[in-house]
Amino acid sequence: MYHAEITGWGMCVPPARLTNDDLATFLDTSDEWITSRSGIRERRVSHVNFSQLGLVSAQRALAAADIDANELDLVMVASLTNDSYCPNTASIIQDLLGARKAAALDINTACTGFLYGLHLCSSLIATGQHRKILLVGGEYITHYLNWSQRSSAILFGDACGAVILQPNSERVGLLSSRIGCEADARNAIQITNFGSAYERLSDDFLYVRWNFDGREVFKRAVKSMAQACLEVLEEAGVSIDEVALVVPHQANKRILDALAARLGVPADKVVINVDKYGNTSAATIPVALVEALEEGRIKPGDYVLSAAFGAGLTWAAGLLRWGSRVTPLQASDAELPPCDKTALELLAPHIERHQEYASRKTSK
Ligand code: UT7
Repeated sequence: MYHAEITGWGMCVPPARLTNDDLATFLDTSDEWITSRSGIRERRVSHVNFSQLGLVSAQRALAAADIDANELDLVMVASLTNDSYCPNTASIIQDLLGARKAAALDINTACTGFLYGLHLCSSLIATGQHRKILLVGGEYITHYLNWSQRSSAILFGDACGAVILQPNSERVGLLSSRIGCEADARNAIQITNFGSAYERLSDDFLYVRWNFDGREVFKRAVKSMAQACLEVLEEAGVSIDEVALVVPHQANKRILDALAARLGVPADKVVINVDKYGNTSAATIPVALVEALEEGRIKPGDYVLSAAFGAGLTWAAGLLRWGSRVTPLQASDAELPPCDKTALELLAPHIERHQEYASRKTSK
């Protein structure tokens, strides 16, 4: 039995920043409301497709592990905002990277996608089925937001992160993990008018709306993440005091504070970057992990605890033991193409379309 060590890591955030004040130019909201309710100050808006964010993250992760794309035997992509549903995004990234020997698999569990993916990839390495896996977690979620719905549009942003997993005989990588789903509350986060359950010849098709019960998700998030964290710690025989860093899903600063309080973890042991990027769904954990490494917050052999929740309502937690290397083996020069527009300029056609649709519906 092998352990799956994270040997490479990379992230990619698009440059265009959308501030709370920008949002208040077209939504009935304010910087004060958004900051006090969520801790979010700004988020990024992508000028490229999701696969481009994935490609750059992957190239950076491959360089950090110092392996070639053609050594990969699996590309797994966790996202709910794929470039297309046919072909899948993993195959697009496989092709762009030139990872010809890799199988290509997309998974969608929304915000828990990266931890679900880590759970699956670690098991595939443990059995010896796969030896070099690229796991990407990311979103181009601004593409799917309804810009006339203030309750959800203010929360999300675009980003991507990636890791390389390789076998190691030492006790490193994911020591224990739990994944689950509270499907009785699946309607608490729901994107409608898109998918094969919707009448595709109807006028509403593709005019996505978010059914969103933030309060319900908030309550369940704190409870399910705290419970899952306690279970993975118990399974691994590690106490919360031995954990060096908590890297949770970044949905809301108040949720993170409540989770830390329930676990009895001091604030300086919790990675928080929701203020800079908002909720980037499947990207939050790999991006927070990469930033923590770059800031020197993870040391060799550290225990790192992670937890997430998202649409479904899926939940997940994992306890990692970091390996001996916390710095990249190689630097990557991979970059996104330049962006010559502001976030508001990028979004202008979408905002106009959603507002026009919303006013057409209310006038009916
Ligand atoms: O990762 C998975 C997805 N993430 C989540 O589901 C996030 C979980 N939930 C949350 O983060 C919080 O519940 C929110 C930040 C979404 C909302 O905070 P809240 O304290 O639960 O506010 P609320 O939903 O109870 O809304 C309070 C009021 C309402 O007005 P009334 O009914 O009290 O008059 C809303 O209409 O705030 C109003 N409101 C807004 N006001 C200004 C809702 N959105 C906005 C807004 N700006 N953007």
